Amino acid sequence: MRPLRPGPVPKHRRLREILTAMATDELGPGAAVPSERVLAERFEVSRATVREAVGALVNEGLLERVHGKGTFVAAPAAVDAALHLASFTQDMIRRGLAVGTEVLAAEVEPASAERAQRLRIDVDAPVLVLWRRRDAGGQPMAIERGVYPLGRLPGLEAHDLAGSIYDLLGQRYDARPDRAEQVVSAEVADNDQARMLAIGPGEPLLVFARTSFARGVAVEDVVSWYRADRYRIHMGLTAERG
Ligand code: GLP
Repeated sequence: MRPLRPGPVPKHRRLREILTAMATDELGPGAAVPSERVLAERFEVSRATVREAVGALVNEGLLERVHGKGTFVAAPAAVDAALHLASFTQDMIRRGLAVGTEVLAAEVEPASAERAQRLRIDVDAPVLVLWRRRDAGGQPMAIERGVYPLGRLPGLEAHDLAGSIYDLLGQRYDARPDRAEQVVSAEVADNDQARMLAIGPGEPLLVFARTSFARGVAVEDVVSWYRADRYRIHMGLTAERG
């Protein structure tokens, strides 16, 4: 393991990426993560840096702290996704599934009135309309149509769009979504959707319409169609007080 030298990307963020790879590729669910002291020594960083990186991965759900025992790689929640703002990539890694992405289309277009309103941009301002099929564990999971405001994300269309778009927004534009509004509904698959998702026409889909914001500024407007036979959402509910 090489020590982390100062660079443009903060050390805790780079350490976070290394730990994510370590947790998913080497350790696997249930395995103990080396202690704060060991990680600090191995990567020649302060314990505060380790704490910050590990804390972020605990918040993402990839790692979990067990009181008095240490930190462990969280078990993938079979088919349930918790209600937090996760990217597809994070969501699937949490479940222990390998992610695949096929870019189906990527076009720069003038924003329609409806899209402009949702993204809080001018009508006809340029947006990237990105269609992708997302696979998990080697099987189709979802189709996503994302609309991205190019005035805020200049040159986005020229990047590799087959990876995590949230990582790209974070790393290249310092605009990783930190809040989103999302509406969930149900539809049945039409012929095209069924073909792309390897299911029969008329099978159920969960539809997520999400507008995502980075520090209060809208950076994406997405509709995702997930196979309902492969995807569920878990909600922890508490009673209202009073
Ligand atoms: C989920 C959300 C989408 C979001 C995507 C980003 O699937 N429903 O709204 O665009 O994650 O995922 P990634 O960063 O892996 O491209």
